[in-house]
Amino acid sequence: MGGIPLTDPRDTAAVMCGIGHWLPPQVVTNADLSSRLDTSEEWIRSRTGIASRHVAGPGTATSDLAVEAGARALKSAGSSDVQALVLATTTPDRPCPATAPEVASRLGLTGIAAFDVSAVCTGFLYGLATAAGFIATGLADRVLLIAAETFTTLLDPEDRATVPIFGDGAGAMVLRRGSASEPGAIGRVVLGSDGEHSDLIAVEAGGSRQRSAGRPAAEEQTYFQMQGRKVFRHAVERMSAAAITATEAAGWRMDEVDRLVAHQANARITAAVASELGLPADRRAQNIEQVGNTAGASVPILLAQAAADGSLAPGHRVLLTAFGGGLTWGAATVLWPGLELFDH
Ligand code: UT7
Repeated sequence: MGGIPLTDPRDTAAVMCGIGHWLPPQVVTNADLSSRLDTSEEWIRSRTGIASRHVAGPGTATSDLAVEAGARALKSAGSSDVQALVLATTTPDRPCPATAPEVASRLGLTGIAAFDVSAVCTGFLYGLATAAGFIATGLADRVLLIAAETFTTLLDPEDRATVPIFGDGAGAMVLRRGSASEPGAIGRVVLGSDGEHSDLIAVEAGGSRQRSAGRPAAEEQTYFQMQGRKVFRHAVERMSAAAITATEAAGWRMDEVDRLVAHQANARITAAVASELGLPADRRAQNIEQVGNTAGASVPILLAQAAADGSLAPGHRVLLTAFGGGLTWGAATVLWPGLELFDH
């Protein structure tokens, strides 16, 4: 009696037990864009792999997408019993307060811990580490993690360098306390950052730096800007290195990885990462053609869609990796579990 743990704490892990996603219904094709921007269907397709993307449209905010994805993940988990909600987003409904508490209330979860995590396109992996940390430290037994973005609201509608790339959407996952040896257990989440390159991906206006300058923002400062070519190189390098570290931490050989689920920034980036890792094309999960780059939401949207279409199956060794503004990057592993899906 008293004090002696019945299980080895080193065997405790966050285990995924539910997943869901939501894409807003409005679809914008490359043909739609090439009719109003100085671009072509061929350029977008060949340089990015994107054919169409979903956009939130007038009046729709990040919380609206987050609630839809979160509800599906809770249904997939078979229970709304969670003690924390982590929302990864770069596009909160408002600069203040965080969006997570409102999402929690709209999901019937008023009272639980709820906060936002900001790591741009690596947001889901930073959120995953946060959720796993809550479980490891006993702050929660079950956590709802949502990554939701309305990135199109940040874009200059006239900017051909960014408009073709980004789309909107949300993905969500429920994690519970479990054993490191069971299917669904999240392996070590590898995270990193390099703020020396914070200017490569940025919205200059709206934060304390611009507001304290004492003059109104110029219009271009209010929009998202990215130095694409430089970001491309960092993305391949960092996603590959993080993926190798996470795979080694899981004790897997790279040739044992069944599916690479990489942040969908650009089909050429995913192909380059897979090639760095020595993974053939048929081990690469991909949905960028239909959804574009959904920033922090891209990894869980891809997981949910790949699980639904059977390209992720129970027992698969799955390697996740992402990269984004900050700069930030991350990777993790999961042995894919059997899940109930309610997305379709
Ligand atoms: O998600 C977070 C992290 N983000 C990323 O990882 C994105 C990384 N970067 C990229 O995916 C690519 O750099 C882009 C898709 C953004 C751009 O592709 P790129 O192959 O790097 O093109 P580029 O920026 O080097 O531009 C090549 C040419 C330029 O013309 P010149 O100078 O060669 O004559 C651009 O002006 O393509 C031109 N261009 C376009 N042409 C038609 C740029 N955007 C367009 C466009 N349509 N939309």
